[in-house]
Amino acid sequence: MIYLDNAASSHPKPDAVYRASDLALRIGANPGRSGHIGALQAARIIHDAREEIAKLLNAPDSARVIFTQNATHAINLALKGFLKAGDHVVTSTMEHNSVTRPLHALSQDGVAVTAVSGGAGGVIDPQKIEDAIGPRTRLVALTHASNVTGALLDLDAVGEICGRRGVELFLDASQTAGAVPINVAASKVSMLAAPGHKGLLGPQGTGFLYVAPGISLTPLMEGGTGFLSESREMPEELPERLEAGTMNTPGIAGLLAGVEHILTRTVENIREHELAITRHILENYRKVDGLLEYGPADPEKRVAVFSFNLGERDGAHVGYVLDEIYKIAVRVGLHCAPDAHKTLGTFPRGSVRASFGPFSTIDDAKTLLAAFGEIAKIK
Ligand SMILES: Cc1ncc(COP(=O)(O)O)c(C=O)c1O
Repeated sequence: MIYLDNAASSHPKPDAVYRASDLALRIGANPGRSGHIGALQAARIIHDAREEIAKLLNAPDSARVIFTQNATHAINLALKGFLKAGDHVVTSTMEHNSVTRPLHALSQDGVAVTAVSGGAGGVIDPQKIEDAIGPRTRLVALTHASNVTGALLDLDAVGEICGRRGVELFLDASQTAGAVPINVAASKVSMLAAPGHKGLLGPQGTGFLYVAPGISLTPLMEGGTGFLSESREMPEELPERLEAGTMNTPGIAGLLAGVEHILTRTVENIREHELAITRHILENYRKVDGLLEYGPADPEKRVAVFSFNLGERDGAHVGYVLDEIYKIAVRVGLHCAPDAHKTLGTFPRGSVRASFGPFSTIDDAKTLLAAFGEIAKIK
């Protein structure tokens, strides 16, 4: 099987990830709840994972890395914890439903939402973001890279605009954490949400929200934190304020191993590797009769996520043939981003998405294009 669905969840993981989750499961104890050796070992795992994630993002304080179940949980925590009735938020039409739906729910409660339309290839124009900022705008909420076209946000330009206009910046790094170098301090990112199970190579059931100093969020949930138990209120301290209940220690142990793998290989190396695959696809896909691709033509302006359509062929059928005959795993449909497909003119049809990861090869890309070529010839 050639796995080209890394934008949904990365596969395979480094061996160390499987081993680390297994070990944590065997330690078994609850981190931060007791003082015995197992509890301390578990707490050390969680602490180290925060530290390594902070290192990866150049975040100033690892206590501001909040563990969540996935990116969606982190996004909900950020948006619902920050925005209040009367606020205005600027977003885009290229967002995943994990941003669009919480913002829709907030709009029912008095938050004004402006969605700036993505341009060709799904690229978001920073000037349009600036033009949409008004006196009540408190937040700009954008994806760092589209999960449909791979288009990368000009993060430094948007960060500069937000800093100058006194607006906070929320970044959905679901398609970039671990795949593209990120420096939250330099790019003036106020909050960053990421899954642990995609580019960070951790297990499913993991994710996190980074919250910059000065940003205060209302918790999504209240519950046990292992300290200040006498109070009915959640503690003020991070990360506990935003982390109620027992942590996913086996998942976070795997995530720690995934992030360590990335820090050793380096994000720059992974980015170069994925850029080589991207260049190969962009230089060759037009050789396949009728093959359309919707992302930016410049490999530097995107990640290794490709939305294809093969003439008028049904995407579900193309995906089925890729899976059954060619043993290539892709994803078809709307990819939880209907507005992105409306922006690209591919709604409701959607596309056949192939997404590459750090263990993908140029041969995988060649095999995919050859398979498209053969499918294109079938009458
Ligand atoms: C851009 C983007 N945001 C958010 C998500 C949601 O991630 P999760 O499934 O970890 O909640 C995804 C997942 O595909 C995504 O691609």
